[in-house]
Amino acid sequence: MRSRQRFLNGGYYQALANGIISALIKTPLGLQQTLLDIGCGEGYYLQQLRHAAMTSNTHLQLLGLDISKIGIRLAAKRTLSAQLLVDSAYQIPLFENSIDTALSVFSPICPNETARVLTSGGILIMVGPGEEHLTGLTSYIYDQHQPHEGNFKAMDEHSSFSLQNQTQIKSIITVKGADIFDLLTMTPYYWHSTADQQKALSSLDQLITPIHFYLRVYQKVKS
Ligand SMILES: C[S@@+](CC[C@H](N)C(=O)[O-])C[C@H]1O[C@@H](n2cnc3c(N)ncnc32)[C@H](O)[C@@H]1O
Repeated sequence: MRSRQRFLNGGYYQALANGIISALIKTPLGLQQTLLDIGCGEGYYLQQLRHAAMTSNTHLQLLGLDISKIGIRLAAKRTLSAQLLVDSAYQIPLFENSIDTALSVFSPICPNETARVLTSGGILIMVGPGEEHLTGLTSYIYDQHQPHEGNFKAMDEHSSFSLQNQTQIKSIITVKGADIFDLLTMTPYYWHSTADQQKALSSLDQLITPIHFYLRVYQKVKS
């Protein structure tokens, strides 16, 4: 969690943060609504959203939920003006129809619970990895890149949600020094790497890698 916070604070995923903000601005309520980040981790995207709302002087009510106490504790130390909850995405402690937009970035999601807390016609912005995501990193670990699967399938198959649009966000980043090990540590690839591979990555001055995300916008079907 700390690795994730240090890495994200380095601005390497700024393109994704900008994509999320743009997607939210395009929703019917724009930046004037209630948003729940499900699996918010240490709060980087909540911070980016708060900053966008402050810059445009809009009233964005933010909530963040994560099962990790450490994540929520780190998020609480940011200046978010958000309500933060330690709980599970599978049992969200909120009333039904209380959230205009849910956000899920690389986190587990429960379609039923998400649909329950969303308003009728509410929006889900969901981010998962693209095929080229972090191939510059995985080339040190695997002979053949194994793309990490997102959770889109569960949403696509759920009758409460309809897919509105999908965008891809792609960029090339140069990760410097100690940030390389933080990047490895914050991904599942850490658990698949040998001590030698970790050592090799740690000794690099820089790592150039594509980042590649799919950002999907779903709407809760009006009942
Ligand atoms: C890959 S991290 C992504 C964190 C954050 N969205 C980001 O992109 O920086 C996945 C997050 O999901 C959280 N998580 C895992 N299982 C969860 C669950 N059942 N309910 C809520 N959060 C969960 C983890 O604690 C972790 O913070």
